[in-house]
Amino acid sequence: MERTLSIIKPDGVKKNIIGEIIKRFEDNNIKIIAMKKIQLTKTQAQGFYAVHKERPFFDSLTSFMTSGPIVVMILKGENVIAENRKLMGATNFKEAEQGTIRRDFATDIEKNVVHGSDAPETALFEIGYFFNAMEIVG
Ligand code: CMP
Repeated sequence: MERTLSIIKPDGVKKNIIGEIIKRFEDNNIKIIAMKKIQLTKTQAQGFYAVHKERPFFDSLTSFMTSGPIVVMILKGENVIAENRKLMGATNFKEAEQGTIRRDFATDIEKNVVHGSDAPETALFEIGYFFNAMEIVG
């Protein structure tokens, strides 16, 4: 069993598709073992996306991520890091496969509705960034 961090970004929350996204996880046998709705400060967003700090889109991305509430979740399941990435689709929604979350709902390479950890080490860092042990059940 593996764990990964999932974020429903401000555009996903604004579109009222929190339930739709969670349904896709549950329909694919993924369990949610922690969840909360929060609003990031710019500093918190910069810390979360620190690996991208040299990228040209860093400032815009961290502003977007603070533009409204987000929902952060820990997902648990077999191969859940890869499974979640399959359900999300490619970062660029134009390249995402039919039926993926980003293909169905994203409008922009930045406003791409969801984030998911890309590897076990990033999952560990990202889960620890948002949750403490008391908030994780299951
Ligand atoms: P995410 O999976 O959260 O990881 C980094 C985010 O940066 C990405 O999704 C997008 O929201 C955003 N982003 C904006 N422009 C780009 C780009 N050109 N390439 C990759 N990610 C981008």
